[in-house]
Amino acid sequence: MENNLNIFLVSEHEAIHSQLLNAFSDQYKIRLISPDELIREVNRDTPDIVIYIQPESDVSVESIQFLQMATPSTQVIFIARVGDLSLLRNVTQSGATEFFVYPEEISLFISRFSTICTNYKKNVEISKQTLHFSRGRGQIFSFFSSNGGSGKSLLASTFAQTLKLELNAEVILIDLNLQFGGIETMLSIDSTRSIADLLPVADELNESHIRNVCQKLPDSKVDVLLSPCDAEVAESLSDEFIAKLLRTCRRSFDFVVIDLPSYINAQVVTALEEADQIIYILNPNTPSLKTLKQFEELSIRLGIELSSRASILINKVARENEVQEKDLKSILRFPVNGAIRLDHKGVQPFINKGEPIRKVTKERRLIPFAKDVKKWALAVVK
Ligand SMILES: Nc1ncnc2c1ncn2[C@@H]1O[C@H](COP(=O)(O)OP(=O)(O)O)[C@@H](O)[C@H]1O
Ligand SMILES: [Mg+2]
Repeated sequence: MENNLNIFLVSEHEAIHSQLLNAFSDQYKIRLISPDELIREVNRDTPDIVIYIQPESDVSVESIQFLQMATPSTQVIFIARVGDLSLLRNVTQSGATEFFVYPEEISLFISRFSTICTNYKKNVEISKQTLHFSRGRGQIFSFFSSNGGSGKSLLASTFAQTLKLELNAEVILIDLNLQFGGIETMLSIDSTRSIADLLPVADELNESHIRNVCQKLPDSKVDVLLSPCDAEVAESLSDEFIAKLLRTCRRSFDFVVIDLPSYINAQVVTALEEADQIIYILNPNTPSLKTLKQFEELSIRLGIELSSRASILINKVARENEVQEKDLKSILRFPVNGAIRLDHKGVQPFINKGEPIRKVTKERRLIPFAKDVKKWALAVVK
């Protein structure tokens, strides 16, 4: 009954977590994560129970306060490596409901764990009956490709418009081409407000700051957060700031769509790491396949976890392509989730006039490009 709980084991102490994993792994599905991954993982996926093993560094109280704030329904069990009364007081005040000391009380904890889980479930049932709480947790989609001109910006922007119009969802499109931008030209947005305007309020960043800096597309009403289009300003935006921005957006929007440049730096790595889905745009030709391979190798070296989140969207499909979709599928490591036709005739007029591809919900005549995007988009958000 308890085994469908989502349990995080936060630990950097091999001896302790192997003992716990050994004791619990037949009955429970437990994810081991390191203390510095906690915030990111909690933003991506709400745990029911967190077993938090006191780390070397002094972040316990802060982390538990964060959990309490970000996901109040999560139950936190704290395992201390020293019996310290003031620590006990601090972590319980921050929201930990159970406290055990390693190694003396570890077997006590193991024997009590199933009762803790059963009680947790009971409490959830009770609180479901009394209050209905829904916490926003939007999904982040990062559009990337190591090839310029592959269609990232056009696809990210059309994807955002499609979700807004077809699902009536809250959607934000963020241009993380921090040096040169691009979305403002593609969508004819004339504004001096950009991501950089959020920097002064970085410490207390909230939804209304973001909405104030966004521009709404006149027809679809997609919120767009523009690039500062300035290399010097771009440099001043730290990866911590980018992470904070994306996490705040996730709390207020159903879908956060990020357009990325064709290179990798700390800001891009952050956008890839925070994403629920990484959409890699691949044009069906040999040079593009080669850069995809290089990107895969680089991600392994940088420790970006791709396997569970990356998928490929083939763009500019045409009969005369040197590489065909069916040949691609056999050589790619990630699933191919869609293919978009090369639609020069349909797309060009929009690009030249700087107009968004999608404007209204029931468009009478979608161009082939927009039809393909719609089909793929509705499948990928499920
Ligand atoms: N499926 C497509 N059919 C026709 N033109 C396309 C298609 N995808 C992209 N393009 C064109 O390719 C060019 C580059 O697209 P863009 O989105 O700016 O690429 P990136 O952001 O990857 O550099 C744009 O002019 C765009 O209109
Ligand atoms: Mg681009």
